Amino acid sequence: MMRAITLLHFLTFASATSPHHPTHAIKCPIIFDGRVPRNLALGSFDSAATSPYSPQFVKGENLTWSQILLLPNTSLSRFDTRSVHKPLEVTINDHSLFRPGGGNLQVGFRRAGLLLKNDTNSAGSDPADTGVVTFHWSVKQDRNRALNLSHEYMNVWHEKADYSGNQFTFVGGVVLEVDGGTGVDTRGERESWKVQDSKNGVVFRTPMRFGGWQNFAVQLDYVSS
Ligand SMILES: *[C@@H]1O[C@H](CO)[C@@H](O)[C@H](O)[C@H]1NC(C)=O
Ligand SMILES: *[C@@H]1O[C@H](CO)[C@@H](O)[C@H](O)[C@H]1NC(C)=O
Ligand SMILES: *[C@@H]1O[C@H](CO)[C@@H](O)[C@H](O)[C@H]1NC(C)=O
Ligand SMILES: *[C@@H]1O[C@H](CO)[C@@H](O)[C@H](O)[C@H]1NC(C)=O
Repeated sequence: MMRAITLLHFLTFASATSPHHPTHAIKCPIIFDGRVPRNLALGSFDSAATSPYSPQFVKGENLTWSQILLLPNTSLSRFDTRSVHKPLEVTINDHSLFRPGGGNLQVGFRRAGLLLKNDTNSAGSDPADTGVVTFHWSVKQDRNRALNLSHEYMNVWHEKADYSGNQFTFVGGVVLEVDGGTGVDTRGERESWKVQDSKNGVVFRTPMRFGGWQNFAVQLDYVSS
């Protein structure tokens, strides 16, 4: 049976502060904006010309983003402006198996990861990879497509350019030991969001609030760390 497991997920924008900016300049310009324009249709996510995200990566090998995403009629997150933006819902199921270029299908997990289309990989190659950068996002869960929180849901992360790990990871549910969690299926583990550092250590946790938006931000400092 195919079961859609979903997280309602408004991904976001990163902004940077530069300590060398003159005080009259905008201190935190938006670098990448993942908010969805209110008039965007689902089909627009399949084209680089119209999507804020990469139309190709990272998703089930036979799926298009317009088959994966939903545009639910729900409340707006705190960073959405009613006349401008709308939220976006991501679904995963047993078709969400990614095949890396020329490699084998990754059957150990399901993937539906939106990549900001203006992001480039190499360290320092875009403004989100230098200075001090803040990532903002909001999440809300879809009651009708509940997650099975005995599993690990890696929701937001920033991967190192050499793919050796993540600079930070935002994760929900029971986190596997191999990913830095306890692997122990307790209610406290299931029903909490966790932020992990670059060594997968949990640096922040908070209970999930079902039925409402939760807002998060993580700041990466490429200068002093
Ligand atoms: C991507 O970059 C282009 C060119 O700099 C810019 O016009 C556009 O707004 C950016 N898109 C997003 C979604 O950040
Ligand atoms: C969206 O939800 C609101 C409030 O629940 C409702 O009034 C409106 O008719 C809904 N719109 C659509 C297109 O379903
Ligand atoms: C994608 O389609 C091919 C060809 O039908 C099939 O062999 C493969 O199993 C499909 N992949 C997934 C993840 O369903
Ligand atoms: C949730 O996942 C656990 C672990 O895989 C499994 O034992 C359980 O049956 C699942 N629950 C539902 C409702 O599918």
